[in-house]
Amino acid sequence: MPQPNIYVTRRFADSGIKALKAKGYKVTVYAEDKVIPRKELLKNVKGCDALLSLLTDQIDEEVFKAAGPQLKIVANYAVGFDNVDLAAAKKRNIPVTNTPSDKVNEAVAEHTFALMLCLARRIAEADVFAKAKKYQGWSPNLLNGTDLYGKTLGIIGAGRIGSAVARRAVGGFGMKLVYSDMRQNVDLERLYKAQYMSMEKLLETSDFVSLHVPLLPSTRHLISTSEFSMMKKTAFLVNTARGPVVDEKALLRALKTKRIAGAGIDVFECEPAIDCDVTDNLELKSFANVILTPHIASATIEAREAMSMVAAENILAVLSGKPPLNPAK
Ligand code: DGY
Repeated sequence: MPQPNIYVTRRFADSGIKALKAKGYKVTVYAEDKVIPRKELLKNVKGCDALLSLLTDQIDEEVFKAAGPQLKIVANYAVGFDNVDLAAAKKRNIPVTNTPSDKVNEAVAEHTFALMLCLARRIAEADVFAKAKKYQGWSPNLLNGTDLYGKTLGIIGAGRIGSAVARRAVGGFGMKLVYSDMRQNVDLERLYKAQYMSMEKLLETSDFVSLHVPLLPSTRHLISTSEFSMMKKTAFLVNTARGPVVDEKALLRALKTKRIAGAGIDVFECEPAIDCDVTDNLELKSFANVILTPHIASATIEAREAMSMVAAENILAVLSGKPPLNPAK
């Protein structure tokens, strides 16, 4: 019997690829280090038993059709899976998996704090200032920021990543914690004295608001004009979740009118474009109180290796007739 073959849409941390090859599976990786063009994706998936996709690949009916009826699993190399049409997969009985891992939770939580610290302590502005040789000597009025200590962090979405952020906030930075979610998280309340509240109340209460929800129809533009209007004028927004969770136009307006104090943004509504539309001459990059990073919250060597292994383990499980370890749902 021929060995199953696995198609991988991009080269990445190779522990998982090695594990698949060690099993004797034929693994083909898209040769170029770029997002695979749609046409090539449709051509290359033909006949594969497992597809290891990235969040930059749209996996839909057309891809399932192009792959053929032998396709047994789509292992998405990401925690998020909004790029996969789950209904189309379900119709064909193809499990879709994602790559949650403690390593990813910790990496994203660290990045969330990197953004919060950068905003609160004006690190990017200070770096530009110092490199421009503008420093003339110590001044009590130079680049004063704000403490994290004693401030209230509002976590929207209290799952694994939100909880890793919560631990740092309370244990590491002496912050107070409030959270909103569809479900109450009793561990968060017990461990970190977190207060459960409605999102509206959280927005009114928090000095920092950090988003940790998946992108779903119900979370698209979760933060828009009316939500910004509820936030404190001194509050910062951090988004390491998915770009469309924040209405970018509303964010730009909130920044322009100083409705909020600033934003740390790792994910973009029209990714990979940083701005969806600049016809109104407002661009995220034009604000000194906005820190932009290009979707790298989980970009640590440790997290990438873990994601690679989790994706591979899901493929190994399904191809040996077992249930998937991390079904996306
Ligand atoms: C994820 O895993 O969903 C991240 O956004 C990509 O690293």
